[in-house]
Amino acid sequence: MKIKVKIYSDKYTAYNIIIGNDIFNNLSGIITDNFRANKYFVIIDTNVFRSYSKIIRKQLSNKNFISELIILPSGEKEKNIKNVLDISNSLLSKGADRKSAIIAIGGGVVGDIAGFISSIYMRGIPIIHIPTSLIAQVDSSIGGKTAIDIPKGKNILGSFNQPNLVLTDINFLKSLDESEYRNGLSEVVKYGIISGTGLFNKLERNINSIKKRDTKFLANIISTCVKIKKGIVEKDEKENNLRRILNFGHTIGHAIESASVYKVPHGRAVASGMIIASRISAELFGLKQNDLNRIEELINKLGLDYGIPEFVRTNDILNAIKNDKKKSGKIITFIMLRKIGLPLITNKIPTGILKKEIDKLRNSNIIKANLSRS
Ligand SMILES: NC(=O)c1ccc[n+]([C@@H]2O[C@H](COP(=O)([O-])OP(=O)(O)OC[C@H]3O[C@@H](n4cnc5c(N)ncnc54)[C@H](O)[C@@H]3O)[C@@H](O)[C@H]2O)c1
Repeated sequence: MKIKVKIYSDKYTAYNIIIGNDIFNNLSGIITDNFRANKYFVIIDTNVFRSYSKIIRKQLSNKNFISELIILPSGEKEKNIKNVLDISNSLLSKGADRKSAIIAIGGGVVGDIAGFISSIYMRGIPIIHIPTSLIAQVDSSIGGKTAIDIPKGKNILGSFNQPNLVLTDINFLKSLDESEYRNGLSEVVKYGIISGTGLFNKLERNINSIKKRDTKFLANIISTCVKIKKGIVEKDEKENNLRRILNFGHTIGHAIESASVYKVPHGRAVASGMIIASRISAELFGLKQNDLNRIEELINKLGLDYGIPEFVRTNDILNAIKNDKKKSGKIITFIMLRKIGLPLITNKIPTGILKKEIDKLRNSNIIKANLSRS
């Protein structure tokens, strides 16, 4: 399936997202057919390279595909300025110029750092994303946000830099470990909640196919998520308004991650944020109890982790919310729900209600833990 993204912003940009389950075996051919460069520079992390080294080496040895390989250690801590410099030095010494293209093969970490480098190396060179984690396939490879972390904060240095091509091969998900897969499912559930009812209903009816990672079903829901994100980004590339709805569950989720000093994984934090935001929506914005139950049930049936560990203090979460990097002055934007599929953007959430719901989620964890021990 081919999905075209068209951005009319500072300049017109359009690119294709090709989704399938046999792309990687013919990578060099598909790339040269869809995006020509004088030389391709593949940036990949050690984990993904380990799983696919044979096929990558085979693809890179195609004599019509002039390429170089740059391997990065895996993990969020690698999204740093030192790696930006090291990779840029490697690009220069391996001969990358303005007619070259970067190919990022990996999850959101590789995509974000490679995307950032492509936006500044020699004032900008093309980038092709080959997302390999579920988060990268449904989220980070689309929409052009790039970033690295600095010691004082996550994603602080970055740019808007639309890719030139995205190649999404569902087969990559087979080697993804269970916790990383569930991280990505949190984002899939988010799309289901914020956009109409079609995806949400489909997720509810197909729990087993999702858990089994059925390739055909995953191709279907990944392309639905991609179309939802494309529709939003095309209308609001720079997150001035509509794109904010993609932050459903994330304002509170990011605060949980940050208050835990990143010990709580992103997917678990976002699932917790979505539950808290839905409960507050029921209290303040008319979300019906039935919709709230369906959201919590879907998260439970998919086996997503959620909850706030005892070591993460409520006050630290509230402080992290106050310092949300997307705030404007003192105004913090939250995404709430009127019903499933109908989000609203608001800054009117009393701190007392946030505190109550954070504590409630923490206490329900303790009850669950006690029950499972008895
Ligand atoms: N730019 C955006 O719009 C955007 C959106 C969402 C998230 N992000 C960023 O993305 C990052 C999170 O993405 P992520 O969860 O993909 O992290 P990640 O890139 O660290 O990948 C998670 C782990 O899975 C491994 N992995 C990836 N694909 C694999 C595969 N097919 N088989 C085996 N192992 C595989 C990686 O090596 C890594 O260990 C964060 O840094 C976040 O800030 C960016």
